[in-house]
Amino acid sequence: MKLLVTGGAGFIGSAVVRLAVARGHSVVNLDALTYAACLANIASVADSPLYSFEQADIRDPAAVEAVFRRHAPDAVMHLAAESHVDRSIDGPGVFIETNVAGTYNMLQAARAHWDRIGRPESFRFHHISTDEVFGSLPADPSVKFTEDTPYDPRSPYSASKAASDHLVRAWHETYGLPVVLTNCSNNYGPYHFPEKLIPVIILSALAGKPLPIYGDGSNIRDWLYVEDHAEALLLVLEQGKSGRGYNIGGENERTNLELVHTLCAILDEKRPKASGSYADQITFVTDRPGHDARYAIDPTRIRTELGWRPSVTVEEGLARTVEWYLQNEDWWRALQDRKGVGERLGKAS
Ligand SMILES: NC(=O)c1ccc[n+]([C@@H]2O[C@H](COP(=O)([O-])OP(=O)(O)OC[C@H]3O[C@@H](n4cnc5c(N)ncnc54)[C@H](O)[C@@H]3O)[C@@H](O)[C@H]2O)c1
Repeated sequence: MKLLVTGGAGFIGSAVVRLAVARGHSVVNLDALTYAACLANIASVADSPLYSFEQADIRDPAAVEAVFRRHAPDAVMHLAAESHVDRSIDGPGVFIETNVAGTYNMLQAARAHWDRIGRPESFRFHHISTDEVFGSLPADPSVKFTEDTPYDPRSPYSASKAASDHLVRAWHETYGLPVVLTNCSNNYGPYHFPEKLIPVIILSALAGKPLPIYGDGSNIRDWLYVEDHAEALLLVLEQGKSGRGYNIGGENERTNLELVHTLCAILDEKRPKASGSYADQITFVTDRPGHDARYAIDPTRIRTELGWRPSVTVEEGLARTVEWYLQNEDWWRALQDRKGVGERLGKAS
């Protein structure tokens, strides 16, 4: 299959690109190379005859249209987005432009392309989204996000992603465009940009800096190893039913404080400090405004209909992730100079 992947130089997109090429798909990576992108993430496939790169901005409809005309993809996997909640609090405008208007441009270009190639039912526009569109859950562990949970986004980031999900469904209902949607829980793993919680904790620990925990650390997230997410995304693309949404999650709920303690324990074992534990560096900082209390995915649909299972437990995945950061210092050092990295963002006023 010829896939047009947007955002393929980012964290999850690059995992998708690496896996798709390894599976023998032809991949066109459309990415604007914003602050969050890193071409090193896809260096392993850059010379493959199956891979090509288009630097283009999804906010520019003409640029998007040109990529569709040049490559005539069989399917689209749309991951390009502004993705950091804290940045969305400080500057929501670009989240609306990229995540909402950019998705609109992608849909319009995909629709025109689909018309040109005779409207095959086998075409797919796969929209990759987040569980954050469903809002915040109570502590009761029996309550989880299903595909039928009403949307209730609470940050500029999640509101922009919710809007994009609605556009994708509308283009299916109104124009018949064959789409699939996925809403996934928090990802972690190799190549995670060093502004997100897990890399921030690993790198701050190694630098002997405070390990910042928002509020009291009781917020719960449901963690999924990024390569398991990439596997799920290709499965949904190949076998998901047109017009259908699939929730993806690892059923690995942890409070932020538990997660940080686990990371510290792994670091204590792999790179012991001269004295004490990395956990001694834990520091509680002012909470994020509107910080959602709990996210948890019910992955029954993707498990029963498509047979997907995550391949690693969160403990295995975190150990692999810590090891990757220890072995790939050149990668993360190069990103630490980028604007905003290492600063506290999103405190609002
Ligand atoms: N990270 C998570 O835990 C998570 C969980 C569920 C869903 N998602 C979704 O998955 C997708 C990818 O997330 P990520 O964490 O890999 O993001 P990321 O920030 O690491 O990467 C985003 C990529 O999109 C590109 N991009 C941004 N704006 C663009 C534009 N205007 N035109 C073209 N390219 C642009 C960037 O250059 C970057 O390469 C997003 O849609 C996000 O909402 C993320």
